[in-house]
Amino acid sequence: MPTIRFLLADGEELAVEARNGRTLMETALENSVPGIIAECNGSAACATCHVVLPDQIISALGPISEHENDMLDFAEAPRQAGSRLSCQIKVSDVLDNIAVRIPSA
Ligand code: FES
Repeated sequence: MPTIRFLLADGEELAVEARNGRTLMETALENSVPGIIAECNGSAACATCHVVLPDQIISALGPISEHENDMLDFAEAPRQAGSRLSCQIKVSDVLDNIAVRIPSA
């Protein structure tokens, strides 16, 4: 069961246990992580689940889909190098102990 460290916009850190196979967005909602809204409930249609991931994880996750790439342009917080939609990221042991930053909007 990987641990995900959410770095909140106010500088606080919230470490939670995540279940493999769930998405990062679902993990955030289940743990009431502030800043993850998920208006479209994981359909990659709202960009309110925007997170910023570390470089080493970005490369391990493989290429981003064209649709997710387009949707990130509509995120409220400015897009960054490690920006992803957390609803499109499945939890696995690869993500254990990573820092998932919630960008301030
Ligand atoms: S929950 Fe809407 S884009 Fe991820």
